[in-house]
Amino acid sequence: MTVRPFLALIAVAACGGGDAAPDAAGPDGPVPDAPPPVADAAPDAFIPAAVGQFPEGFLWGTAIAPYQVEGNLHDTDWYVWEGCGLCSPDHADDGPDFWDHYEEDFADAQAMGTNAIRLGVEWGRVFPTAASFPDHPDPDALARYHQIVASARAHGLVVMVTLHHFSTPLWLADPRVTDQPYGWDRDDMPQLFAAWAGFCAREFGADVDWWITINEPFAMIAAGWMGPLFPPGHFADVSGAVLAQQHMIESHVLAYEAIHANDTVSALGDGVAARVSFATHNRVFLPADPTNADDVRAAAATTELNNRSFLDAVVNGNVDANLDGDFDDPGDTRGDPTLAGHLDYIGLNYYGVSLVRYAGQSLFPFLGAPTANDLDRFGVNLPITEYGATIYPQGFRVVLDEVAPYRLPIVITENGIADGFDTQRPRFLLDHLYALAKAIDEGVDVRGYFHWSLIDNFEWAAGFCPQFGLYHVDRSDAARPRTAGGGVGVYRRIIEAATVPVGMFAEFPSYGFPGKYCLRTGL
Ligand code: FCB
Repeated sequence: MTVRPFLALIAVAACGGGDAAPDAAGPDGPVPDAPPPVADAAPDAFIPAAVGQFPEGFLWGTAIAPYQVEGNLHDTDWYVWEGCGLCSPDHADDGPDFWDHYEEDFADAQAMGTNAIRLGVEWGRVFPTAASFPDHPDPDALARYHQIVASARAHGLVVMVTLHHFSTPLWLADPRVTDQPYGWDRDDMPQLFAAWAGFCAREFGADVDWWITINEPFAMIAAGWMGPLFPPGHFADVSGAVLAQQHMIESHVLAYEAIHANDTVSALGDGVAARVSFATHNRVFLPADPTNADDVRAAAATTELNNRSFLDAVVNGNVDANLDGDFDDPGDTRGDPTLAGHLDYIGLNYYGVSLVRYAGQSLFPFLGAPTANDLDRFGVNLPITEYGATIYPQGFRVVLDEVAPYRLPIVITENGIADGFDTQRPRFLLDHLYALAKAIDEGVDVRGYFHWSLIDNFEWAAGFCPQFGLYHVDRSDAARPRTAGGGVGVYRRIIEAATVPVGMFAEFPSYGFPGKYCLRTGL
């Protein structure tokens, strides 16, 4: 086995360009042998049929995460991890400084017409040492988070809070310490995480009804335990990965209970005090070679692991503890009532499609190595972003239909594109929101859409090159001025119309070329 495929898997997982995940049709369903044709690839504008209105009360949002926007998060594992062997040399401290610019950012969010924001509170900022947790929060950090949440509300934004977005307190997870279990591998992690969740629910519950426990659990596992782009930087550590998955499931379940026990106030006045989910990064996974049975099997296994295993556990109580695809091994459960029913909605992050190549049996159950870059082998000429990700709005419906059987409301907790010159984001918004509107028209229960991201930010191992912000940030200026990019007006018009006015497709008839190219870390 070569190193390369796993680096690919990790890069995909780490950068919004991909994750590890499942096939398009489910483990038993047919695997499509080619993506559907791309209506918008032709430069002569194809105007699709009109779609209906987004529902009343739809959450129109943007998303950010503490480590990517705040700066000065030195008591987290990511601060120590920055500059890792395969990482860019960039430092999150040189980022957009949301910590001091949140008022301005929320004003921009409001002016854009959005009515919601997904943001995070950083565990390691509120509790910087083991001794401080859980009784002695840093008063300044806590006060600032209260100001941030209050400011968001004052700007008319419904607040969704993420409790863990990739970064973990250093006192729990120090990449330099190799002789102790790391973060999610610690046996006490679920209890500690639940205590953090309960604390946040007590502190912020009066202003917050929407909660995300863990962002993209499987992406963290793929990038941190199967390959070296995220801390702890283990390589092919299957047992560590399996343990982390179990502890994440347990952590979510305990946190779900802690949030419901401690957030008893309906901030929005609709009688619901808390809605709790995690954010799952689901992708369309296609076999790199549809005639190769191993690739087909690897794509199906990846789909199962990435798109379904966590959901199956916390919705249905089905745990495949060793991830081998059945439920008859020690530790496996079906319908476990202590796990089932611990999800109020599905937080879905959608970034596109990956091809999966069989990477060998030896790292079972991680059979596949997703890569996002060669759909042209299907004869499909899909546009590629500045970060090397294939733009694939067709897949949005695939991942929506895949989670519909869980019969829970869906909120798109992330969807976005790296596009510093906005040659692609306007059309990206049109295509993705059109797909969403059509799905809603046809009965899929989607309650909100959060675009990643409000502002340019620190894209993990890739640093600052990929620019996901609707608003761009000039980091060469100490004042960090923000400028509206080309997606802002498009998003505002769609929000105002509460539909995707199909005439807009003629204004943006095709995807332009990226204005620059970023190194796709690990590929
Ligand atoms: C997602 C992450 C988010 C950001 C985007 C581009 O997978 O959740 O933090 O990096 O990708």
